[in-house]
Amino acid sequence: MGELNVLNPAGPAASEISFLWWLLFWTATVVGVIVFGLLLFALRGRKNTTSQKVNHQETKKGSRDRFILIGGGLIPALILIVIFGFALRSMIVLAGPPAREEAITIQAVGHQWWWEIRYPNEAIVTANELWLPVGERVRLEVTGGDVIHSFWVPNLHGKIDTIPGQTNVFWLEASRAGLFRGECAEFCGLQHANMAFMVNAVERGDFEAWLERQRTPVSEFVQEQYAVGKAVFQDEGCAGCHAVRGTPAQGQLGPDLTHIASRMTLGAGILENNRGNLAGWTVNAQAHKPGNKMPPIYLEGDRLQALLDYLEGLE
Ligand code: CUA
Repeated sequence: MGELNVLNPAGPAASEISFLWWLLFWTATVVGVIVFGLLLFALRGRKNTTSQKVNHQETKKGSRDRFILIGGGLIPALILIVIFGFALRSMIVLAGPPAREEAITIQAVGHQWWWEIRYPNEAIVTANELWLPVGERVRLEVTGGDVIHSFWVPNLHGKIDTIPGQTNVFWLEASRAGLFRGECAEFCGLQHANMAFMVNAVERGDFEAWLERQRTPVSEFVQEQYAVGKAVFQDEGCAGCHAVRGTPAQGQLGPDLTHIASRMTLGAGILENNRGNLAGWTVNAQAHKPGNKMPPIYLEGDRLQALLDYLEGLE
């Protein structure tokens, strides 16, 4: 789910990166073709050199030296200087200008093996999914919760390490709407490869509607409607690790589940979010993602169904 293509940029930073990539690709291709062409030419010409006349050899040596000096020294140096110039430009474009403090700020915390996503100015906490408005530069602050991870959305920007105890400031901007897939790009343990997240770039109005929804704690009405499931959530230990804003559940170890039903995936991108997968994940998350911190939970059928009703009500 979600687009994942470094060569199909959807923002200014990714455009710069793919420009540099293509520049290097074509330069290397042209240089390679010329060098291997000359090599073939030299190999074929060798047969004849022994029959050349001796008095021709002095003048040939002079032009040969010049050819080596220009072709082997001057031209490669010029190519490298030009590429260095473009690389410097890319570094400047990617580094900034940073989004101002008052811009939309998103915090991403890498955990084994999921992403905690916060909108500190909106008091929103979610997981493995971030939304941003098209055409606006958002400020991104990343850190690590346990080991070093790396936040990477290939369609939008380069990689940025999430380091415990340190906050790296970064920015994201999408120039077109779309659903883009992000990946952890730093080996971080057993499930490193299953640590994806979704970046949904939407129009401003849709973004604000999403913010409004995510900001809202679970209503009394929903809590009463799913009272049995809510009780299972409290009694079976779910609440020890997961927070559901507006309820007594305040666990901090696992993802905030206040609006779990609104999310696209479960288990950081590995499962589509539907009732069947939610049931499978809840009962035995280890079967889907061995080594993750969620223990198996044994529930009688009707208690499991009540819990699923409750979770699916957390929209
Ligand atoms: Cu987190 Cu690799």
